[in-house]
Amino acid sequence: MTQPTRRTLDGLLARFTAEGRLGGTRLGGRPVAAADIGRTEVTGVTLDSRDVERGSLFVAIPGEHVDGHDFGPAAVEAGAAGVIVERPLPGIAAPQIVVDATRPALASAAAWWYGDPSHELTVVGITGTDGKTTTAYLAVAALEAAGLPSGMIGTIATRIGGHTDAHAAHATTPEAPELQRTLRAMVDAGDRVAIIETTSHGLALDRVAGVAYDVAILTNVTHEHLELHGTWEAYREAKLSLFDRLREVRRVTKPHPVHATAIVNLDDPSAGLFIGTARDAGARVVTYGTEAAADIRATRIAEDGQGLRADVTTTHGTTTIDLRLAGRFNVHNALAVVALGDALGLDAEKVREGLASLELVPGRMERIEHGQPFGVVVDFAHSPASLSTVLDFLAPAAAARGGGLIAVFGSAGERDTAKRPQMGRIAGERARLVVVTDEDPRGEDREAILDEIARGAEAAGRRRGHDLLLIADRREAIAAAFEAARPGDIVLLAGKGHEQSIIGPDGEQPWDERAVAEELLETMGAGTPGTLTP
Ligand SMILES: Nc1ncnc2c1ncn2[C@@H]1O[C@H](COP(=O)(O)OP(=O)(O)O)[C@@H](O)[C@H]1O
Ligand SMILES: [Mg+2]
Repeated sequence: MTQPTRRTLDGLLARFTAEGRLGGTRLGGRPVAAADIGRTEVTGVTLDSRDVERGSLFVAIPGEHVDGHDFGPAAVEAGAAGVIVERPLPGIAAPQIVVDATRPALASAAAWWYGDPSHELTVVGITGTDGKTTTAYLAVAALEAAGLPSGMIGTIATRIGGHTDAHAAHATTPEAPELQRTLRAMVDAGDRVAIIETTSHGLALDRVAGVAYDVAILTNVTHEHLELHGTWEAYREAKLSLFDRLREVRRVTKPHPVHATAIVNLDDPSAGLFIGTARDAGARVVTYGTEAAADIRATRIAEDGQGLRADVTTTHGTTTIDLRLAGRFNVHNALAVVALGDALGLDAEKVREGLASLELVPGRMERIEHGQPFGVVVDFAHSPASLSTVLDFLAPAAAARGGGLIAVFGSAGERDTAKRPQMGRIAGERARLVVVTDEDPRGEDREAILDEIARGAEAAGRRRGHDLLLIADRREAIAAAFEAARPGDIVLLAGKGHEQSIIGPDGEQPWDERAVAEELLETMGAGTPGTLTP
């Protein structure tokens, strides 16, 4: 990747002044004129004192568990050329830039250091509780088919210059320095578009504050991540802020200008709020969904074992889209991409070809076939809404085969606890057998998490030891589900999807849901007729 050009602190001080962020400059804790320290050369921007190299600009972030300000002296010791702080640190021998809030300052500094790569790309942000990753994959497939080289930043992988690299564990929306570095790499690799899965965490923590978004997409907003945001309103507010950000792109001249556009799921109960926020920001609004009022509307949806087909009506008339993905909700994800293609002025036929070309999103509605007489599906559903969507989608298929549903899932530790009984109830109402197990217990008592989920299932009439099993060990839980499966049943393994680990009190244990399921089916002798007892 090309090295950013030489940058000295006066450039950043000017930027902070223009943004109204600069609260002063200090040396050893004493006020000093910006000009006096302005010419200090910088070699990088980081928020982790362990990553500091000679010349780094260290940004002190007050975190949940530790405060970056405590590491200011260590950063300077390690060679930091300067520090960005919310309060001056006494006695350190490097320039200090004092700002109101270091999180947005970090985002701005990272964008500055990498030369504002988002100004050279068409940037598409996707937010929502469910469907971001899938929509991002569909968008890449469609845009590339229409001739736009597209990078992607998201949960499963990062795509730069046509290469998609899976990453094991990493936040869906990375910290600003990593995000800006990736955007710069996309520009260098010749990408025209950056598709960014933009989570409510990423928004609330200002990670994307230095990004000029051209298009914002809302998939849906349901109950999730209340551990971080505290309330439902705060959670929705974080997502809304992506749409408010659309106002910023008007101050930027891009090589391929796009009218700021908000693409909103009209079927979502919160759609009106998102539309209002986008309009206030001066963006054009395009709605999609099944409602008659939607600009991009699915009028007929058919599904079979191979995928989905939907008639889509737009102002240009009605066409048909084909998807190889399973799950009716994927029609919504595809409609958002049809709207995106329209907003970018792409050839609609090429967009449809691209949508039809995507075979699979890893860990999303993945079918596992090992010759067993029942169905097995691995899916990443980990919210009440997505769990109910997926179970409702699978139920008719199981019934048509003369079987029922078995749901294996858990709920993460140290995350939203209110969803636990909700997920238990949702599964209890839909599955003939509920197996509750570990998701990522982290430092929490795993049995207690299982118990909270189980109570929801009990409220739906399930009984422990009969049609409700609590088995913390995920491999044993899946084995028990397979043992209990009858021909025609569908076993849903939900919540882990593509993830490569389970996080417990002792850290991460390697995990691969697909591989584990295949191994268990293998040892059970699936595929050998007569060895699996119904
Ligand atoms: N549009 C949608 N509406 C509701 N549920 C969805 C939608 N798209 C996907 N899902 C469900 O949510 C799960 C996660 O999908 P994913 O695309 O990974 O979303 P995200 O990146 O937002 O977590 C999928 O496995 C599926 O069960
Ligand atoms: Mg995702």
